[in-house]
Amino acid sequence: MKDLLRTLDLSKADFKYLLNRSRKFKASPHGRRSLLSGESVCLYFTKPSTRTRISFQAAVSRLGGSPIILGPNDLQLGRGETIEDTGRVISRYTRAFVTRTYRHEDVERFAKVLSVPVINALTDSHHPCQSVADMLTLLEHRGSLKHRRIAYFGDGNNVAVSLMEAAALCGVDCAIATPKNYTVSQTMVDEAREVAEANGASLLITEDPEEAARGADALYTDVWLSMGDDDNERAQRQRALQPYQVTRRLMGLAKPDAIFMHCLPAHRGEEVTEEVADGPQSVIFDQAENRLHTAVAILYALIEGKLTGRKNEDGQEA
Ligand code: CP
Ligand code: NVA
Repeated sequence: MKDLLRTLDLSKADFKYLLNRSRKFKASPHGRRSLLSGESVCLYFTKPSTRTRISFQAAVSRLGGSPIILGPNDLQLGRGETIEDTGRVISRYTRAFVTRTYRHEDVERFAKVLSVPVINALTDSHHPCQSVADMLTLLEHRGSLKHRRIAYFGDGNNVAVSLMEAAALCGVDCAIATPKNYTVSQTMVDEAREVAEANGASLLITEDPEEAARGADALYTDVWLSMGDDDNERAQRQRALQPYQVTRRLMGLAKPDAIFMHCLPAHRGEEVTEEVADGPQSVIFDQAENRLHTAVAILYALIEGKLTGRKNEDGQEA
């Protein structure tokens, strides 16, 4: 497996490997400084980022390399050079390419031509790196992922999709509560459900936030308006998504020691109340910290060729 473009690129064993590796790097952050010594990794972000960009930059340094950070106006791409030509050139200089952009297809096009690993640092439809940190955080706060249940509330966006896929691979029961115009795509639900069931877990898609929250180990939410969404929809989204706000009352339906999770950035008063985001059950900053340890593990695993890939594991072509 060369690239990490979406969570379901990973096999169950790959996901487990990344969680174990992340824990090892967390315990011993500078253990593999020779991996990227004298080497570079290119980070190309056409959308804003705090956690992903800084954590990958720090992760490259922890592996002994130098990050090359590029924004939307830095490459000839903006002046019409193709993704294919750009990708081939980047391969000649660097050991990996981490990119955040709008269209998922653009990251797939990069992956096709780069000879080095391509890592999706968020597209409109997927956020796989976030999902590895999410499962690590759940694991740390629960001791095990066995018989756990995570519930997501709000917009059926990139973060919801990757969380659902990660839960399926880890055998964690998952509930996704969204209003009907903001659901996750049915194709992605079907794919995730097949993987979940093979791993002994369930996937519930519901419009009822209370049904999703009942008995959960973790309640998770994300912004109602993602980067790239039409700002004119803001008011309409707020109306539709208000019943999915994570409140103390909703937390009260989950297990008494349930945790509150959010990929951040958060909008207190919209998708979550201030008292929940900053309350005793919130683990949002542990989750943010885990972006770093998982970024080190993802870079290490792809550069060292440690991952098989779900489709390869099944004997199909990747
Ligand atoms: N959670 C996350 O990806 O945050 P950033 O947008 O700040 O990178
Ligand atoms: N769904 C959000 C996630 C930000 C990390 C977005 O795409 O803007």
